[in-house]
Amino acid sequence: MSKRQNNEIPHPDLTGARPETLAVRAGQHRTAELEHSEAIFPTSSFVYNSAAQAAARFAGDEPGNIYSRFTNPTVQMFEERIAALEGGERAVATSSGMAAVLATMMALLQQGDHVICSRGVFGTTTVLMQKYMARFGVETTFVDLTDMAQWRDALRPETRMLFLETPSNPLCEVADISALAELAHSNEALLAVDNCFCTPVLQQPFRFGADLVIHSATKYLDGQGRCVGGVVVGSDLLMEEVYGFLRSAGPTMSPFNAWVFLKGLETLSLRMKTHSENASQVAAWLRQRPEIAQVFFAGLEDHPQHELANRQQSGPSGVLSFLVHGGREAAWQFIDGLNLFSITANLGDAKSTVTHPATTTHGRLSDEEKVKGGIAENLVRLSIGLESPEDLIDDLQQSFDRIQ
Ligand SMILES: Cc1ncc(COP(=O)(O)O)c(C=O)c1O
Repeated sequence: MSKRQNNEIPHPDLTGARPETLAVRAGQHRTAELEHSEAIFPTSSFVYNSAAQAAARFAGDEPGNIYSRFTNPTVQMFEERIAALEGGERAVATSSGMAAVLATMMALLQQGDHVICSRGVFGTTTVLMQKYMARFGVETTFVDLTDMAQWRDALRPETRMLFLETPSNPLCEVADISALAELAHSNEALLAVDNCFCTPVLQQPFRFGADLVIHSATKYLDGQGRCVGGVVVGSDLLMEEVYGFLRSAGPTMSPFNAWVFLKGLETLSLRMKTHSENASQVAAWLRQRPEIAQVFFAGLEDHPQHELANRQQSGPSGVLSFLVHGGREAAWQFIDGLNLFSITANLGDAKSTVTHPATTTHGRLSDEEKVKGGIAENLVRLSIGLESPEDLIDDLQQSFDRIQ
């Protein structure tokens, strides 16, 4: 019988395939319709041949779908593709990036545990740990991302997790993942890395010893600002716990969003190269401007962790930030004067965006936390999109020219 009659055209063997190939091909499961593009399964539940089969599925004695809060075929395709790209055993998709952080903590920590977290994380991650995880007896110590002594000094016998973003949001500091993995493991703690800025195309934290990789899929994985979603990747053992939490608590990814992310992943490597190139051009230009006190971008040769970034990352990604002379007023004037850039809190979009972190993404931090975390009133974050970098530079120039 030919393959076609059998309704089972085999998927390509992806052994040894590179990220560009995995991003397009990994994880696809075709239905009997033999569709070329991945199918969306907008169904809340699945049916069984018999009561006995339903019982076997619920008991875990028979594999198969039960209910879309547990598993869904489109979501599973996204999970398998991301796991392949990150080089992890298993991925679990969530309803948002924050749900991915929450699920990781709820599944893998318990009352009395201690977490060490970089100050340079997304503001809401800080709030989650400080305000909510603390209520359930999980204490967090915040340290400077690049200061190994602070990480070491914060370690306690009950430290179970080290959490960081690299490059950090919004200051683009770069953590030494290998050194922090070693430190975590010396204390039987897990190292969790939010890989949102680089994506697996530019950085694979498991290669440097991380135990968990977390994404806000909302950002570069989608790449076109359409959907909110997240994902956690790790060993089968750890992911079984994260899956168990999601199955009970419910912040799972919708099949439609998973499909959008699958389509987004197909262009991920092309986009990440262009985002990186465009941002490098903009960063180099910004450095020459008299209105700017400092540019934060690991692609610049004089960035303090430039060498480390070159070792860990295959590109700088598209986010950069800078301090404009003149405080909040100058920062707001500059933001308001832009024509092409969208004023929005999202990043990783094809459209370039501009954000004032101190009053938006990091606005819920206390004044002291902002000072310690470098979230100054004159700090501006740019996420460089896929427009012509020359047009973006023209736009930045005209806005600077208007600052009084
Ligand atoms: C680095 C990073 N991690 C996590 C998140 C949270 O993701 P989401 O907005 O999808 O919940 C964000 C959002 O901006 C982020 O920038």
